[in-house]
Amino acid sequence: MTLSLTEVNALKRPPAVEGVLPVIHERWSPRAFSDREVSSADLHRIFEAARWAPSSNNEQPWRFLVGLRNTQTHSSIAAALAGYNHDWAPKAPVLILGMTRSRTVRRDAPNAYALYDLGAAMAMLVLQAQALGLATHQMGGFAHAAIRQSLGIPELWVFGSVTALGYQAEPAALASEEMIAREVAPRTRKPLSELAFTAWEEPATLGG
Ligand SMILES: Cc1cc2nc3c(=O)[nH]c(=O)nc-3n(C[C@H](O)[C@H](O)[C@H](O)COP(=O)(O)O)c2cc1C
Repeated sequence: MTLSLTEVNALKRPPAVEGVLPVIHERWSPRAFSDREVSSADLHRIFEAARWAPSSNNEQPWRFLVGLRNTQTHSSIAAALAGYNHDWAPKAPVLILGMTRSRTVRRDAPNAYALYDLGAAMAMLVLQAQALGLATHQMGGFAHAAIRQSLGIPELWVFGSVTALGYQAEPAALASEEMIAREVAPRTRKPLSELAFTAWEEPATLGG
């Protein structure tokens, strides 16, 4: 017996903490996607959210290649996915290749913050998607050289992730028992005492 959509989302959701934005606790990375298309109005909202991310010197070095199902871009991104991602992600109606300009426009110098800024934009994007009832799953497992070649992307641009975007499906929609087991596994995080410190190795005492 597998879990329904409502059950799996309840299982994945951390206990509420008053004042934390609900979309932050609701977001997780499913692998089961339904066939339902994402509207162009929602795509607009999602990239608008990414557009307003902060970036070093306001370089806005990110760029997204949006692969919509039944297009060459979607097929090329899907073809470059590592085996374990290829088993589920091509089902998503949108595959987004996130990349960033490795040199600044202002000085044509290496941009040490290019990937950092792309990550910030992606964080905005995935939360906006969540707020719209959409699911996202970022992936680092893809062949960079192959995707660069098939999509004709210049070396100046460095890849961050491929993100599957779409509507979530029930875990049972996945192709194997192993994938279903991973889909319903509890989520884990380090405690706050391992990420917030007031001095070196002195965990912060945070109220709450
Ligand atoms: C940069 C990055 C690369 C990732 N690569 C993969 C991947 O190749 N395949 C995969 O299934 N999940 C991948 N993930 C998803 C993570 O495993 C997932 O975010 C993490 O386990 C936390 O789970 P949550 O997103 O459900 O909170 C990646 C996530 C990020 C941010």
